[in-house]
Amino acid sequence: MDLFKVYPLWDIDIVRAEGSYVWDDKGTRYLDMYGGHAVISIGHTHPHYVDTVVNQLKHIGFYSNSVIIDQQRELADKLGELSGKRDYQLFLCNSGAEANENALKLASFHNGKSKVIAMKGAFHGRTSLAVAATDNPNIVAPVNRTDNVIFVPLNDEAALEEAFKNNEISSVIVEAIQGVGGIRIASREFLRKIRSLCDRYNAVYIADEVQCGCGRTGQYYASDWADVHADIYTMAKGLGNGFPIGAIAIAPHIAPKLGMLGTTFGGNHLGCAAAIAVADVMAGDRLIDNAREIGEYLTAELKKLPGVKEVRGRGLMIGIELFEDSAPLRKKLLFDEKIFVGSSGNKNVFRLLPALNVKKEHVDALLAALRKLLTV
Ligand SMILES: Cc1ncc(COP(=O)(O)O)c(C=O)c1O
Repeated sequence: MDLFKVYPLWDIDIVRAEGSYVWDDKGTRYLDMYGGHAVISIGHTHPHYVDTVVNQLKHIGFYSNSVIIDQQRELADKLGELSGKRDYQLFLCNSGAEANENALKLASFHNGKSKVIAMKGAFHGRTSLAVAATDNPNIVAPVNRTDNVIFVPLNDEAALEEAFKNNEISSVIVEAIQGVGGIRIASREFLRKIRSLCDRYNAVYIADEVQCGCGRTGQYYASDWADVHADIYTMAKGLGNGFPIGAIAIAPHIAPKLGMLGTTFGGNHLGCAAAIAVADVMAGDRLIDNAREIGEYLTAELKKLPGVKEVRGRGLMIGIELFEDSAPLRKKLLFDEKIFVGSSGNKNVFRLLPALNVKKEHVDALLAALRKLLTV
């Protein structure tokens, strides 16, 4: 059987990883400034993570949500501590798209309304409503098309207010920093406006923290930079450091009903063990502070480079916009300098999404390589 070819691939076979490095089958070492697409939060094969997952697997890997799974409670407590939102409720699933799907659905159950406001440039996943709320017609199949989603330009408060006027808005879904969209930051004022309009019109504010969350920007949730609470935070990527797990954190005023949401695999023992290990390392090693500190240093240094139009982002979620297509530079970084970085929906912008415990020596290596390639 052949693979269903949907991914453009680099001709590199990665077989081993440790910290911020990965190795291919020929023994070549690469610096990972991409984190496997913002997924590697505490570094590859972190010893505490490996021990916790292996140990859990020896006891039990999976049982269904028909029984008590202690690890779910432990994870909920730890995420409550890390995020400071101790009174929120946790629902566990398996991916970012699934987290958003559940959030949008839960909002609609909660207020009985059906319209969603999403942002131009947004990416929320590839399942039915998540993809309908994604601003990319190429990945929306005819069956996913719906007039329930209204797109407004990011940071356009007047357009947002206008979209609310029909009073059928169930939820607003927004990335505090658009990832796929090319590292576009939602302004503090815009997020605060979403909060106040959601309050005024009985709508649900959904913060898609799948890429920008889990400590990456120097706060547990990137939306927290606006100093207002969302009603639902969605998470995945960095939550499990590579173990497929997604989650939504739900404000206390949204009440559950038995059978309202559900999934076979979500919240299984193994996935929870992985996410608990991530939370332990994040708290114990102060990785959120490291993300903020190294991110500030890296951003300041990137701004000094020649050939760079703009550097955007927060913490370790950084977009570098060139005056031209970034693909040739990314290719040279990978094949000549052995450094992984990420592309984005904007061809001129490439992304840095390294592990949150990346060290100064790693980012200095990246800066040296960029200095060399951008000055020739
Ligand atoms: C902001 C955001 N939301 C949702 C998703 C979808 O997550 P997943 O690929 O785990 O379904 C992504 C994936 O890149 C994302 O960046």
